[in-house]
Amino acid sequence: MSQRTPLTRFLIEAERAGQMTPELRLLIEVVARACKSISNAISKGALGGVLGDAGTGNVQGEAQKKLDVLSNEILLEANAWGGHLAGIASEEMEEPHPIPDAYPKGNFLLLFDPLDGSSNIDVNVSVGTIFSVLRCPDGVTEPATEHFLQPGTAQVAAGYTIYGPSTVLVLTVGHGTHAFTLDRELGTFILTQRDIRVPEDTQEYAINASNQRHWDAHVQRYIGDLLAGKTGPRGKDFNTRWIASMVADVHRIMTRGGTFMYPADAKCREKGGRLRLMYEANPMAFLVEQAGGAATTGTQRMMEVTPTGLHMRVPVILGSKNEVAQFERYARED
Ligand code: F6P
Repeated sequence: MSQRTPLTRFLIEAERAGQMTPELRLLIEVVARACKSISNAISKGALGGVLGDAGTGNVQGEAQKKLDVLSNEILLEANAWGGHLAGIASEEMEEPHPIPDAYPKGNFLLLFDPLDGSSNIDVNVSVGTIFSVLRCPDGVTEPATEHFLQPGTAQVAAGYTIYGPSTVLVLTVGHGTHAFTLDRELGTFILTQRDIRVPEDTQEYAINASNQRHWDAHVQRYIGDLLAGKTGPRGKDFNTRWIASMVADVHRIMTRGGTFMYPADAKCREKGGRLRLMYEANPMAFLVEQAGGAATTGTQRMMEVTPTGLHMRVPVILGSKNEVAQFERYARED
């Protein structure tokens, strides 16, 4: 039998190779452990009494699912006491969450979307946790919002865990993107793909086409040309896939290439876009770039966007490099 590499061993080897500090290793282990608990809660479905609305709204004005609230609590509780964090920010909380005084503080800032795509949870479609890790600026012991507002290029680690037919953690610490599948019997994440490579070309794309009437002219033109297929200007047929769960759509791209697009449109332009920069777009951009793909707002590399708020929204176009570049070409024509 070929040797299996558990996440712990992978991280210790990465630490020995100088790719991370022991504190970052601990942080990732703790996040992975929290994701196992979330996976466990999700997999119980209706039997666990965890489906349905929580009856509350989050900072974004979105209705919270019971599992949104539970996942947020699991991640907060798991991370607060470890001594590796200076502060935590979550999609579900307006302001950063301080580390309780009873616990030691560390040098990292953790940002997460505890359960992305949670509107899909009641219909048993894959959802996921997305996270991003930044360094706390030197000398700051009580980080405020401003200390979290660092560009994606400052991330030291990022990842997501997809809760699907299997639970898979996809991780980068800036040395490639790697996937770990949860062995439920052992309760251990096992390395199942080292150095994921996103194919540079693709014939598959994901976009919410119900927004078509709100799209800008270049998006209309770009998608129109994809739909024209073989006899159109692109000279090949394209296929659409849209799960409405970013983690699941991105995981498909990690597996076989493609593009994921949520451009700004007339409906969401005032807010800046649909998806959030700090805990959705930036971590996904880091993972995709480390796998040889690209991520842009359409006019700027995602990870170079200067954040102006914890919950800032941005247009997102990411995935297979050459197709992302095509989109940017159309965007420049407007
Ligand atoms: O967090 C946002 C999210 O749930 C993503 O996972 C998904 O891609 C998107 O919203 C879908 O939004 P909509 O249904 O409004 O197009």
